[in-house]
Amino acid sequence: MKNTVVTFKEMKKKGEKISMLTAYDYSTAKIIDESGINGILVGDSLGNVMLGYPDTVSVTMEDMIHHGAAVARGAKDSLVVIDMPFMSYQASVYDAVINAGRLMKEGRAQAVKLEGGEEIIPQVEAIVKASIPVMGHIGLTPQSINAFGGYKAQGRDLSSAKKLIRDAKLLEEAGAFSIVLECVPAELASYVTSQLSIPTIGIGGGAGTDGQILVYADMLAMFSDYKPKFVKHFANVGQVMKEGFRAYDEEVKAGTYPAAEHNYSISEEVLNQAIND
Ligand code: KIV
Repeated sequence: MKNTVVTFKEMKKKGEKISMLTAYDYSTAKIIDESGINGILVGDSLGNVMLGYPDTVSVTMEDMIHHGAAVARGAKDSLVVIDMPFMSYQASVYDAVINAGRLMKEGRAQAVKLEGGEEIIPQVEAIVKASIPVMGHIGLTPQSINAFGGYKAQGRDLSSAKKLIRDAKLLEEAGAFSIVLECVPAELASYVTSQLSIPTIGIGGGAGTDGQILVYADMLAMFSDYKPKFVKHFANVGQVMKEGFRAYDEEVKAGTYPAAEHNYSISEEVLNQAIND
């Protein structure tokens, strides 16, 4: 059955954990969907793991729509959330609503995700008013990398811990259906989770959140530029891919691939006529 934002809220009520992964293409989305994962985020981590940028700042609306629509075609049951990229919502409420609408209409999202707390509450309220479900994202918000001065855990000092609690409450009041908590102390993430009626989805926030999300290329050891502390390799797909690519390279060079069973046939008569005509 298709997961919806209502499914997520009901899972929190029942105390059931929510699983989410990122995806950026049709085939991966289909495999994730068939694995029973509740939600797929078309994250702007696309910029890092698919497009090779050093951060998410250069990701565009066109990138998110293109990859989002591919994921939506592959996700039969998983809820599809698409990230609003940097500067698609920060400048004005008008931009935020128009661009969230494009991710729904052209990207076929079921919900959009925005990074930030208090400073983007007017945008969240306006998007929710337009009947577009919003997932919040606080703690480490990678679009603000240049303001943070690096990828650092958040909420570890008094003022930033207080801000995290306040931002979470404001996002809930603004109508967000769920909130991602990224790179925050586990005890703080658990406290925030206990104070909200909407589900929290953790990434580097410990086991006390209502759900978890990881970048699929991280948890399958496909992305090798760096490995955040919270990432666990659930399978070494990067290594399996290398082994497959090397075996192909060897067989092509040895002339053992393609073999007879991979060839298309033609009758001798047709071939002779074609050659001799
Ligand atoms: O872009 C992304 O993949 C994300 C997750 C890490 C939450 O925002």
